[in-house]
Amino acid sequence: MKKVRKAVIPAAGLGTRVLPATKSMPKEMLPIVDKPAIQYIVEEAVHSGIDEILIITNRGKGLMEDHFDRMPELEAKLLSSGKHSVYDEIVEISQLANIYFIRQKETKGLGHAVNRARSFIGDEPFAVLYGDDVIIGKNPVCAQLCRAYEEYGKGVVGVKEVAPEAIKKYSSLKVEPIRERMFSVTDMIEKPATLKDAFSLYSILGRCVLPPVIFDILDETPPGAGGEIQLTDAMRTLARSQGMIAVDFDGTRYDMGNKLGVMQASVEIALNHPEIGEDFRKYLRQIANDL
Ligand code: UTP
Repeated sequence: MKKVRKAVIPAAGLGTRVLPATKSMPKEMLPIVDKPAIQYIVEEAVHSGIDEILIITNRGKGLMEDHFDRMPELEAKLLSSGKHSVYDEIVEISQLANIYFIRQKETKGLGHAVNRARSFIGDEPFAVLYGDDVIIGKNPVCAQLCRAYEEYGKGVVGVKEVAPEAIKKYSSLKVEPIRERMFSVTDMIEKPATLKDAFSLYSILGRCVLPPVIFDILDETPPGAGGEIQLTDAMRTLARSQGMIAVDFDGTRYDMGNKLGVMQASVEIALNHPEIGEDFRKYLRQIANDL
């Protein structure tokens, strides 16, 4: 089975749930302690053995491009003031992987965004890491999915169970267990209108690995929920025709697309941060007493 060596990060949504922060800045650039969300996601892909990454952008493209570029003036200043470890950290960001950018010119949905990657991907399997889902865990979740792809040769989705009252905001998958934390998927629906329309509470959260045939399927996929071309609708066609694999992944997912998710990411990642973790814990204990 072909190894997964390319990834696509769709980051061209409008981010309307985190306005006004995202008025002129993509939500993927929102910082979690000291790194923008997109850097955590690129690092996850790199730690999964992927070295070619395409980021799909629209407005605010410059910010993301600059973040993964060299910064000669800043680097010179850091060196001359003896800040060698920060210098190394800054240079390393520009050397993480080969990162490419393409614009989705109209915001027509996640499926439409992924379809912009066709010529970059060619005839290979590839990972999709949703640009607003930061997932932290010991083993990179993208790697967990890539290994499942390499084992089964089928498209793979990362899933978690969501609360019954939340399922209408997510996708719902028809699953049969294969082994611990792994299922075969034969059908799915995006944003089921009621609980009765849902297959299960297993929902795709932020990561998948797809075979290149998905592009032909996307070409034929009409707009679905919200009038957008939904990646889930294309994956449904794939699941019904070839079957897919679902991995109940090991990791904590933070939804940077909503305000509570942004705060949860900041608090939990700050608590484990080598530089400020201890002081932040003390601070939280102090203010928790007054809550
Ligand atoms: P979302 O549906 O969460 O993104 O898409 P959104 O449009 O920004 O959401 P609102 O406005 O807050 O409700 C999930 C991922 O797909 C990307 C987004 O950037 C996000 O990373 N996306 C979505 C695109 O790249 N293009 C699109 O047309 C839609």
